[in-house]
Order: sequence, then C-alpha cells, then structure tokens
Amino acid sequence: MIPFFITHVSPQAPSLVAETLQGGRLSEGELVRTFEKAVESLVRIQGAVAVNSGTSALHLGLVCGGIGPGDEVILPAQTFIASGMAILQTGAKAVFADIDVRTGNLDVASVRAKITPRTRAILPVHWAGYPCELDELHRVAEAHGLWLIEDAAHALGATYRGRPVGAISRFTTFSFQAIKHITTGDGGLLVCADPDDASMAARRRWFGIDRADSPMSQEGERQYDVGEVGFKYHLNDYAAALGLANLPDLPGILSRRRTIADQYRRAFVSVPGISLLDYQDDRDCAWWLFTFRVERRLDFIQSLRAKGIPASVVHQGIHHNAVFGQQQADLPGQQLFDATQVSIPVHEQLTDDHVEQIIAAVREGW
Ligand SMILES: Cc1ncc(COP(=O)(O)O)c(C=O)c1O
Repeated sequence: MIPFFITHVSPQAPSLVAETLQGGRLSEGELVRTFEKAVESLVRIQGAVAVNSGTSALHLGLVCGGIGPGDEVILPAQTFIASGMAILQTGAKAVFADIDVRTGNLDVASVRAKITPRTRAILPVHWAGYPCELDELHRVAEAHGLWLIEDAAHALGATYRGRPVGAISRFTTFSFQAIKHITTGDGGLLVCADPDDASMAARRRWFGIDRADSPMSQEGERQYDVGEVGFKYHLNDYAAALGLANLPDLPGILSRRRTIADQYRRAFVSVPGISLLDYQDDRDCAWWLFTFRVERRLDFIQSLRAKGIPASVVHQGIHHNAVFGQQQADLPGQQLFDATQVSIPVHEQLTDDHVEQIIAAVREGW
C-alpha cells in the first residue's frame, strides 16, 4: 500500500540530534532560539515562539490574547479536535460557523451571523493548507472589535495575496507533529504580530518566568516573581535540532506537493463523480492534504484500497463531540462536506510511478 501520510526526517537529522544528545543539554536552550530564527527567515515571518505542540500554541495564543470564561471564539467544525479543545481549555465557548463547501474553509457570512456581544476572536483553519478568505475575515473582525488566531497546522509555507501565512493576523499557529511538513517529533509555533504578545508568550510558555531576565541569586537559585499563569509548553533543544535538520527541505517538500497536486487537478477535472475544491491563484496552498468531494464515497475508498492506494476521510466535523455541548446543527456546508469529502496521498515521497498509478486508478472509476 502506498503510504497515506509520511514522516519526513532529513538525512542530516540523526547526526544533528545525536550531537545535541551528546552535548548534555536536552531542554530549551540556544537551539530553540536558532530554530525560531530559522523558521522566521525561511517563511518570512516575525515573532515566532516555539512550543511543544500546535495545540499548546493555540492555547497559549488564546490566553495571551486575553480569552477566558464568558468569551466566545468562532471556528469551523472542519478541523482536528485540537482547535476546539484549545478554546475550551481557556474556559471560553467554541462557537462553530459553517464552511464553504468549495474549500472546507470558514464561510465568512456564517462567521458574521455567529457574532454575539461575547465574541472576542475568530479562529480560522486553513483546511489542507489552503488559505482562508483572510481579507474578508479581517474586515468582519475589525468591524466588531475582534482579532484572528489562524490555525495554520496544515499551512506552513502557504501564502495569501503575496503574504506568507503567519505574517497576517495577530496570532498564527503551526504544528511540527510527526506527519506535518516539518516535524520536531512533536512541537508547534505561535507567531505573534505584536512584540508585546511575543514576549508574553515566551514567558508564559515556561511558567511565566522570563528566562532572559531572571538572574541567579548568589545561592544559585533563579530569581523571579511570576505575575501571571504560565504553562510548561516550551520546546526542547533535541526537538529543535530535528526541526533545524528538516527545515531546509521545506521548499523542496512544498514544490513536490504542488507539482503532484497540479497533476491531480488536471487529471480529475472532468472525472464524473468528483468535485475538486476551489483553488484561487491569489494564494499558494501548502498541500498538506489533497481533499476533494466524491459521489459514492465508500465505493471510491474501497475501490482505491483494493488497488493498493489509500484514500481516506481526514477529520469529520468536530461539532458533534459532546464536550462542546449542544450546538445548533445549522451547518449545511459542513454536513455536505462530511458526507462527501475524501483525501488521497499528496506527499513528497510519492514517486512519478505512484502518481501515475493513483491517477489511473481514480480515472478507471469506482
Ligand atoms: C488543524 C489542526 N490544528 C491543530 C492541530 C494540533 O497540532 P498538534 O498535534 O501539534 O498539537 C492539528 C494536528 O493535527 C491539526 O490538524
């Protein structure tokens, strides 16, 4: 079976990680800062704060933005449960807006309709790595005094109208979990547009203690007076070493994925029973997934699997989870997406033969 997801480990990684292990410093040190700087420079962003997961990055961003009990944050249901869970972890309510079935991303009109006096922020998710309608979402946010925290777990290296995802909203989060474009084993990044948010996030990722400004006493104890609730969310140096080894491969990873996605789009555009998602050329998708909508989905999945090709649903709408309480099910776009979406492999370890095999199998029908 062709693999559906892969873990990308660069050939340089074992020696770089081994060096860190042998150096004796495993926890957060210089390599974390070096990793943050390297991501900033490669992706053209600023204000990067590395943490131990994408979920921690979301929670930390929400907390640094002041979200707490009594607040509401609007998000799509088309995501992994982490996006909604991070909102609940602050004590706020996760309010689901509908998606545009043509992209799997937040529908701006639905977001507008979900705003109440308690709404504080919008949390768009760039489904599969395809950037949301960010200008329109920002217009809605500004009109209502809200801010955005983008969940860009799928979208490292994506761009929107000439700007990199991560350089557009007050907060953006990335994930470096094992099957993402770039992995640190587990890890994440909170990107803050405001330097004050970035310093607060850097403090609060480690209990609220400012590592750079907490001198040691003569007795050898770190001196601090913590004035805010903090977390143990820091990234470790050995994980940063893995990230630093993998990071230079990002441009190649993105370009291979783009090439495969272009081939799929050309090959499937007129296949009966397939509806490709929308793709505007004012933005670059990071192609973490290649998702589309299909008729008779189970037949499609079984027919491909029988030919050694994994096809799968990745993340059904999360709104049905009991933890979110009774939510109005007025999400017709989400409902249609849930019933019809499917993804096929689009990663950089696919050979040209694999891609041809996948295209032929889909074109044969199901
Ligand atoms: C959309 C989305 N948001 C957040 C996360 C959470 O990231 P992490 O696993 O690094 O905590 C994921 C993980 O797959 C995800 O797909």
